[in-house]
Amino acid sequence: MRITTDYLVIGSGLAGLSFALKVAETGTVTIISKTKLDETNTSYAQGGIAAVLETSSSDNFQKHIDDTLVAGAGICDKAAVEKVIEYAPLAIKDLVSWGTQFDKNEDNQDTFDLHREGGHSNHRILHHKDNTGFEVQRALCEKVRSHKNITIYENFFAVDLITQHHLGNLVKRHQGDIKCYGVYALNLENHKVVTILAKATMLATGGSGQLFLTTTNPVVATGDGFAMVYRAKGIVDNMEFVQFHPTALYNPSESPNFLITEAMRGFGAILRNKNNEAFMTRYDERGNLAPRDIVSRAIDNEMKKNGDDHVYLDCRHLDAEALKEHFPHIYEKCLSIGIDITKDMIPVTPAAHYFCGGVKVDLEGRTSIKYLYAAGETTCTGLHGGNRLASNSLLEAIAYADFASKVAIKEKDENEWQHAIPDWNDEGTSHPEEMILITQSLKEVRQILSNYVGIVRSEVRLKRAFNRLWTIYSETEELYQQTKLSRKLCELRNLIQVGYLVIKAAKARKESVGAHYMADYPNKKNK
Ligand code: FUM
Repeated sequence: MRITTDYLVIGSGLAGLSFALKVAETGTVTIISKTKLDETNTSYAQGGIAAVLETSSSDNFQKHIDDTLVAGAGICDKAAVEKVIEYAPLAIKDLVSWGTQFDKNEDNQDTFDLHREGGHSNHRILHHKDNTGFEVQRALCEKVRSHKNITIYENFFAVDLITQHHLGNLVKRHQGDIKCYGVYALNLENHKVVTILAKATMLATGGSGQLFLTTTNPVVATGDGFAMVYRAKGIVDNMEFVQFHPTALYNPSESPNFLITEAMRGFGAILRNKNNEAFMTRYDERGNLAPRDIVSRAIDNEMKKNGDDHVYLDCRHLDAEALKEHFPHIYEKCLSIGIDITKDMIPVTPAAHYFCGGVKVDLEGRTSIKYLYAAGETTCTGLHGGNRLASNSLLEAIAYADFASKVAIKEKDENEWQHAIPDWNDEGTSHPEEMILITQSLKEVRQILSNYVGIVRSEVRLKRAFNRLWTIYSETEELYQQTKLSRKLCELRNLIQVGYLVIKAAKARKESVGAHYMADYPNKKNK
């Protein structure tokens, strides 16, 4: 099967769907989603979207910019930070026009209720209760499903980007003229590989939390975009900065880990260790509202020091009715496992949450591969630097989808459908005889990354991780050459690729900064 389309969107979270809506009046749009249209990282975002809507003495763009730069630990690209934060009011306008409902103030229905989260100097997080991402996803899914120019394929897994390499021409990283002509995608319903030819391709495949055993990310977050771009010889950057969310619900029987939004700490919740000590002020003067890399490391340290597998988030002193009103989803979830958050402390643990780095894009969302654009967690825009400020992720996704839509509309007609691209050839391959070869390797990869490349790293751990991963890489590549494509095999291969990129970047950065903490170089640059 072959599909030709003006615009191809890979991924169906906020970045992908908002891009689709922005370009849909100018051509045909094809969206492919690995599972269901609404099974995305966006759907799981709880906190909200950071935006300064009205400049006042208490809050303004500059304060949001400064908070982002401080959290980013000196690694942010200031131009990207300014551009995104100044774009925020337009982003909110679009979301509202597409049907997203943000909570309003009870006493003034013309103003939004604003939350505060770690690293923010002000209340500026627009939200929908405590499941903002779900609400955003709902509104956008409705919009794209009813657009006449948009065709949606669910259960289509993007395997590899198509470039001139598939026409038999050599491509090299950094060569500057690699062009994207679309993607090979595996139809997971009939197991056939489809060739999708596109003039402009938007990569919005999210992050790779599944690289770790403990993660807030859904099972679809296997770093497919990072891996595809790297294999196509594109540029990725800042892969060492994997952000761990400080407070995922500790519930060993559940994976992924349920998120306990930072907005709860913004609302007054306090972290305590098992000795009941409110420990955060020992680590940072901002206490419970310090940026998340600091809070996650503090929790990790408390857990290691005391030999515990979690700490607690304490809401018991807060107004019970207000707590239930603002966080109904968390209240219900905790109650379902016997924890009444108005009376009991919530057991929490840090969990892999967000990739601050990714596919390098310019200020307009162009990747290093021509006609390939990217937005959302899959990118490295420079906004997050070494550590993302809470609730800047949905903002970045919609902002870069907009920036990229503008250039894609202009550039797409420079690119032609390359009908000479051959279809996928899997002659000589067979179905895997033993799934254990894939499932066991997947477990090992996640263990290696969790144990050696997590919140605290060291030279010796990284070296060990690299060596262990190399063995699994070699075995998996051999299997890949002999085997028909399956989602599990492709995801394993992608996770190994992403693991390699994280380790390589972590080994190269001889300092502790942002979310990258090296026990060998605790405080300072050590180049
Ligand atoms: O804590 C949260 O609600 C997460 C927000 C975020 O990742 O930006």
